[in-house]
This record gives sequence, structure tokens and C-alpha cells, in this order.
Amino acid sequence: MEKAIIVAYDTNRAIGQGGDLPWRRSLPADLAHFKRLTKGSDVIMGRKTFESIGCRPLPERENIVISSRPTGVKGVLTAVNLESALALARYKTFIIGGARVYGEALNTPEIDTIYATEVDASFPDADTFFPELDMTAWQEVSRVHHPADTENKYDFDFVTYRRII
Ligand SMILES: NC(=O)c1ccc[n+]([C@@H]2O[C@H](COP(=O)([O-])OP(=O)(O)OC[C@H]3O[C@@H](n4cnc5c(N)ncnc54)[C@H](OP(=O)(O)O)[C@@H]3O)[C@@H](O)[C@H]2O)c1
Repeated sequence: MEKAIIVAYDTNRAIGQGGDLPWRRSLPADLAHFKRLTKGSDVIMGRKTFESIGCRPLPERENIVISSRPTGVKGVLTAVNLESALALARYKTFIIGGARVYGEALNTPEIDTIYATEVDASFPDADTFFPELDMTAWQEVSRVHHPADTENKYDFDFVTYRRII
């Protein structure tokens, strides 16, 4: 079963600001892309990312939250680290953040794909970042450009990277 990272970051690799996305709700096409790719799959996230989505499980997905304490939320599995979260996963699995979980996932060989949304903007007040990719270990395999439009405030690219070592 495929195990992949899914992330959206700006030109400085920023992913979060004040517990939310730096660009808030101004890229609905990215939210739709996230939903389309992850529906029917397992999603693994850190406790703060779970809080950022309202402490509710994402519908039509198996939600696994990494935390030192159970969430107590019905319909959500809790794991103490990424390794035990991956052991709970049964379907195609997406690592959906945040920074610490992404960092560990990049060092986990069975996670071999990154679905990145590269937002062509920078958010100087951002406080959470995706690690720099080691391009000797990852190869870009596809890139689709989307210009800003009336609904989406910034240009962005949907990019897929595959692990090569
Ligand atoms: N742009 C994107 O694609 C994207 C994706 C996801 C999130 N975000 C943003 O990123 C921010 C949240 O991310 P974050 O990096 O601050 O937090 P996070 O990684 O979501 O959560 C951190 C928490 O997860 C638990 N955790 C993570 N790794 C662990 C490990 N190996 N062992 C034990 N516990 C572990 C701990 O919970 P306990 O303290 O409970 O033990 C830790 O405090 C928000 O702003 C959110 O909007 C953006």
C-alpha cells in the first residue's frame, strides 16, 4: 500500500502560521486537491494539526493522531509515534503534517512519495516549516502549474516527488 506525504508550502517552505495555514482559506483548489487525494485513505497527523482542523476526524478517512495522550475523540485513533501510527494504518496512507511528523516521515524509507503544493507567495509571519528536501534522495516526477484566479489568490504548482534512495 502506498505511503505518502501530502503538504502545501510557500516559497520559504512555510506550512503554518498561528495554528492555521499561512494562506488561510485563499486556495480552495488546494483543499479540494487534498480531499480528492486522501478520501478513502488513512491520514496520519500530529496533535497540533488535529487541533488546526477543529479536533474532528476528517470524514471518509481513517484518522490517526500522533500524541503522547489519547485525544478522547470518537472515531480517531491515537499513536505515540510515527512508527506505531504506520502500524495502525490499513489502507493507502497519507502523512498530513505537521513539521515534526513530516521530518520523521522524510527519514522513513517506506514513505516514498510526496504530493506537494508549491505556493508562489511568501508569508513572513509563518512559524512552521517543511524541511528542505535532500534532492539526492528525491526526484521530481510531475509538476502541474495553476495560475491564480478569481477563487485562488496565488499561483501554485501541484508537484510529485518520488524517493530514489
Ligand atoms: N501546509 C500544510 O500542508 C500543513 C499541514 C499540516 C499542518 N499545517 C500547519 O502546521 C501547524 C501544526 O503543525 P506543528 O508542526 O506545529 O505540529 P504537529 O506536528 O501537527 O503536532 C505536534 C504534536 O504532535 C505530537 N507528535 C508529533 N510527532 C511526535 C512523535 N514523534 N512522538 C510523539 N508525539 C509526536 C506531539 O503531541 P503531544 O504534545 O500531544 O504529545 C506534538 O506536540 C498548523 O499551523 C497547521 O495549520 C500545515
